[in-house]
Amino acid sequence: MNPKRVAILISGGGSNMVTLVDSMTGDHPARPCLVLSNEASAGGLAKAAARSVPTAVVDHRPFGKDRAAFEAELIKPILEAGADIVCLAGFMRVLTAGFVDRFQGRMLNIHPSLLPKYKGLHTHARALAAGDTEHGCTVHEVTSELDDGPILGQARVAIEPGDTPETLAARVLIWEHKLYPAVLRRFAAGDRRPVWLP
Ligand code: GAR
Repeated sequence: MNPKRVAILISGGGSNMVTLVDSMTGDHPARPCLVLSNEASAGGLAKAAARSVPTAVVDHRPFGKDRAAFEAELIKPILEAGADIVCLAGFMRVLTAGFVDRFQGRMLNIHPSLLPKYKGLHTHARALAAGDTEHGCTVHEVTSELDDGPILGQARVAIEPGDTPETLAARVLIWEHKLYPAVLRRFAAGDRRPVWLP
């Protein structure tokens, strides 16, 4: 069977994107076809290019509040690349139902919390403020509800005394880099059973 083609959407450094790209070798059932950013300055673009993955930028700013117009442009390189699967990896724009529906059951996201806890932003600070003893990250299917959709994997991280949002984010990120490739490999093979780490 032909490998599945994966488009990865980023907004920043792209460390999750790098782990996904680097995982897609050998007998992996997928290959990267595109790294797409809404930020021309995203550090991940150069990392993708260095790995010979095609890149594209669609800046959201010229579209102002018109999300549909932005998404009409955003979808073009994804369709041109022939993507079967779309992975959001630190892509920091909210997508409308119109866009999400086009990729129903084929779009994944990684979120830095143990969903359904802490949807949205500042997840590490919120977990600390709540006095939680554990935190982590989740990969889920994207639906039109923000940070919702069927859970495809979670990794749990103990919160240590003295943790700050920064120290906690750094420890969670280590597990994001294990979880997302593990989920993508399984998902691309047609297996939606969740991955639980560690
Ligand atoms: C990651 O921690 C990811 O979970 C988070 O942004 C970071 C991107 O880092 N995503 C979200 O907060 C989505 N709402 P990266 O660019 O180095 O992969």
